[in-house]
Amino acid sequence: MQLAVEQPELHKYPPYQGTSQLRSAASDFFDRRFGLRPDPDRQVLVTLGSKEAMAHLALAFVDPGDVVIVPDPGYPVYATWAKYCGAQVYRMPLRRENGFLPDLDAIPAEIARRAKLLWVNYPNNPTAALATGDFYDRLAAFALHQSS
Ligand SMILES: Cc1ncc(COP(=O)(O)O)c(C=O)c1O
Repeated sequence: MQLAVEQPELHKYPPYQGTSQLRSAASDFFDRRFGLRPDPDRQVLVTLGSKEAMAHLALAFVDPGDVVIVPDPGYPVYATWAKYCGAQVYRMPLRRENGFLPDLDAIPAEIARRAKLLWVNYPNNPTAALATGDFYDRLAAFALHQSS
């Protein structure tokens, strides 16, 4: 950190879109981890942490009258920004007996049909539960079923 502080060219705000080195490093990470190489100039968005990205995701996808499905307990930003966008928040309980995974079958069909976003995060905050690949397969099938 001291070495960086000593470089006058770093005594300024970074560009809003992030430096090209940062965006390229993010693209390289995606390639190593997922075998995908997003275009650093068009497909990598640098934000002030994930909180800002979540807010913008809601602004991009959610319209008044939509439903946003959030885990309960869950990170407050999911529901807060759904409300800012005029959406109805549907809370899906994370219960110990289900390994703190949501019961997708318990979501009413009408809620699922109107949902624009369904938030999950694993390893989960605040339960520390982990999700399996099988869970994500079921979640993807659930989402695809709603959009078909
Ligand atoms: C589940 C979860 N998601 C996102 C965030 C936001 O993290 P940040 O904006 O620092 O990336 C937090 C912060 O506590 C969190 O608990």
